[in-house]
Amino acid sequence: MEDFVLKKIISAEDISCKVKELAKTIKSDCNGGSLLFVGVLKGAWMFMADIVRYLDMPLEVSFIAVSSYKDGTSSTGVVRLLWDSDISMEGKNVYIIEDIIDSGLTLQHLKKLFSVRNPKSINICCLLDKPSRRVVDLEPDYTGFTIPDEFIVGYGLDYDNKFRNLKDIHKLKFLSRGK
Ligand code: IMP
Ligand code: MG
Repeated sequence: MEDFVLKKIISAEDISCKVKELAKTIKSDCNGGSLLFVGVLKGAWMFMADIVRYLDMPLEVSFIAVSSYKDGTSSTGVVRLLWDSDISMEGKNVYIIEDIIDSGLTLQHLKKLFSVRNPKSINICCLLDKPSRRVVDLEPDYTGFTIPDEFIVGYGLDYDNKFRNLKDIHKLKFLSRGK
């Protein structure tokens, strides 16, 4: 791996406060019905595990696995479905739990995929948002932190499958690339 430095940009404490806040907002917005939380693997595994613990109400948890990053830090634009949710979405209020929205292609793809499964509603909750990178017209319903166009790792997010276990969120800077 190239030489790099990690710079902490969001602490574990700030993440924890934000996750609690998001859970509180989701809880107060939702008006009953069946709730299904679908985590997008792998990046959202930590976020999903944390947010559902603050949602003290009946809900179902499921996961979907997609791959959209085949060239390191830049999107190929191709979203591959690696694992599908095994829980029916019919008539349910579906919450897609995602680590980060960048180009928006992954979530656009998932929204289309889920909408033909007849859910009552589809809501998107992203811990992080990089709005300056968007190539499609899509905004999450719930956003934790809005960040600039920087490659970040930690709290579930990876570079080349590494750094997912870091408890804080860091900017990953490659020394040879100057960014
Ligand atoms: P999008 O389809 O371009 O919106 O990309 C979304 C996916 O790319 C996310 O689910 C992440 O897994 C990954 N991704 C985007 N930006 C970053 C980043 O800064 N660090 C790590 N993964 C990222
Ligand atoms: Mg992801």
